[in-house]
Amino acid sequence: MVKKYIIGNGSIISTEAVVKDIEPMASCAPYFNICGNQMSLELMSDDIVYGLGETLRGANKRGWKYVSWCSDDPNHEENKNSLYGAHNFILIDGVKKLGFFFDTPSEITFDIGYTDPDKLIISMESLNLDLYIIDGEDSPSVVKEFRGLIGRSYIAPLWSFGYQQSRWSYPTAKDVMEVVDEYKKSKIPLECVYLDIDYMERYKDFTLDATKFPNFKEFVNNLKDDHIHLIPIIDAGVKVEDGYDCYMEGVKNGYFCTDKDGKPFDSAVWPGLVHYPDVLNPAARRWFGNKYKVLIDCGIDGFWNDMNEPSIFYTPDRLTECIDFIASKQGKLDLNLDEYFSLTDKLRELPNSKVDYGRMYHNASGKLINHELVHNLYGYNMTRAAGEAFNELREERTLLFSRASYVGMHRYGGIWTGDNKSWWSHIELIMHQLPNLNMVGFLYSGADLGGFSCDTTEDLLMRFIELGMFTPLMRNHACIGTRRQELYQFKHTDDFRNLINLRYALIPYLYSEYVKACLNDEMLFKPLAFKYSEDKMARSIEDQLLVGESIMIAPIYKQNAIGRYVYLPEPMKMVKFRSNNDYDTMDLEKGHHFINVNLNEVLVFILPNKLLPLAKPSMRVEDMDMYDLTYIKNGNDATYDYYMDDGVSKEPNGSIRTLK
Ligand code: GLC
Repeated sequence: MVKKYIIGNGSIISTEAVVKDIEPMASCAPYFNICGNQMSLELMSDDIVYGLGETLRGANKRGWKYVSWCSDDPNHEENKNSLYGAHNFILIDGVKKLGFFFDTPSEITFDIGYTDPDKLIISMESLNLDLYIIDGEDSPSVVKEFRGLIGRSYIAPLWSFGYQQSRWSYPTAKDVMEVVDEYKKSKIPLECVYLDIDYMERYKDFTLDATKFPNFKEFVNNLKDDHIHLIPIIDAGVKVEDGYDCYMEGVKNGYFCTDKDGKPFDSAVWPGLVHYPDVLNPAARRWFGNKYKVLIDCGIDGFWNDMNEPSIFYTPDRLTECIDFIASKQGKLDLNLDEYFSLTDKLRELPNSKVDYGRMYHNASGKLINHELVHNLYGYNMTRAAGEAFNELREERTLLFSRASYVGMHRYGGIWTGDNKSWWSHIELIMHQLPNLNMVGFLYSGADLGGFSCDTTEDLLMRFIELGMFTPLMRNHACIGTRRQELYQFKHTDDFRNLINLRYALIPYLYSEYVKACLNDEMLFKPLAFKYSEDKMARSIEDQLLVGESIMIAPIYKQNAIGRYVYLPEPMKMVKFRSNNDYDTMDLEKGHHFINVNLNEVLVFILPNKLLPLAKPSMRVEDMDMYDLTYIKNGNDATYDYYMDDGVSKEPNGSIRTLK
């Protein structure tokens, strides 16, 4: 049951996260104590607090302070409070199961036992928001009700479940072909290759550098004949350059965000000076979305939207202040402590500053509104621009995901979790993020496998892949200047091939569970507490996940580990996928087990009376037979409700058949 309350004056504008009309009720007093700009609620000692989608730290959010403020921060460390997304949903899983959605486009802070271990304290500069409270029988039903409130999740094409290779950058057609050819030579399946910012002419959105990609359309279509999809990046900032159509049209029609005097707001990102399309203005949104057509016309069928927090490297105003300040120290070589730090801080404080966000304005449906108040809606609406345009421009599903997001964007695309690092702890972080992302509707998601920045190692990449093989978006992506991390770069190519083959074998199951979760407002990745809610041990586990209705996974995320402890809340069939594309099974009792797992092996646990279908892998998803399946069963009567469709129709047109 969902109830709506208006707190203060309510949300400053409609975020359009919620798709249902609900009459607001008078007071939320039974749940929250409101005092000034804070609202608080007592937590019981056994309450698990899930939610907040893409955040740092554990899956249970207790014990830290999180700030919803879409941030371009490449250092995903425990001391941080914000990442790229703003997902203001909290689920309290205790004696009672309660869901809360704090719907506001502005900054909001969730102090979950940081100030007082037994309190959830929500605060905003001024407490104005729409609050939705969901009371349910169990956690899955609270999530289902919430998801019904925010509308159906984006459904990605089946081919986007294939293995994807990315790097900043493969800057020329020759570089892309080298990747494709090396994968072919190594006989490792490959579905997509990504084009990072260098494919553009001087980082200008919707342009192509013809010297690097002569005959782009032919190139795209030749690759497509081979079932390889090229996925270009689109950045939020549009380069300021006379004669550049996107810039000229935006200025002429007033489609860019402005300063307080109505002049296009100047900022700088990769291309140098840019303006941001005012995606909160429906006309500008339509215009920007239609710009993708130039690439679609070349045969492109997938995009990733980036730098859409929006990220600001600097603004001319503050850069001038900064340079003047530094110049004022010229010749001063004996700096005291304060002078030294004020100097170094000056440059450090240039990017993504609230001062700059506060100087930018939107024209949201005729109302001039300061960006700072609606900051968290930018990435959402940039992606919505694309998603809405694709609905008109393309007959089939389009792959689309974004870096910044807010609840509601899940109807238009997925997300990837941004610039992680080649760190072991960042494998663990994915496990914590996935269920919380699923709660807020982001089902097509994944992390940069191998880690984005820092140098990866073969063993780290292998363990990343062994978790990433279960995520709908399975993309290996790395930063410029880092060690190359395509799978063929390493000694044990055979192991990587076997792992990717296993991913392909799992695609029918993963896709079936993914689409069912989209259609039924459910989660693909669930914490154990969602199923074994009475089992204290299961409730505390954050490094094992239920994936769909048949299996539990227990990935390894420690360097040089020879295996790991796994807790089974009930007897299960363990499947150990081995390096030779074969597997062993063993029936295990409820309880704790130490399982030896070699670097090239993957564990899957099949739940009682469940069945895991496996397909014959192929070099491309499009060449696979999704009905030629073998089964691993736990129990003679095991069944599985298998969903499959053509994988491309915008409206899923498949059906369920029960496998026995
Ligand atoms: C941002 C993105 C990253 C991309 C880079 C260059 O850091 O998060 O994925 O490679 O920009 O475009």
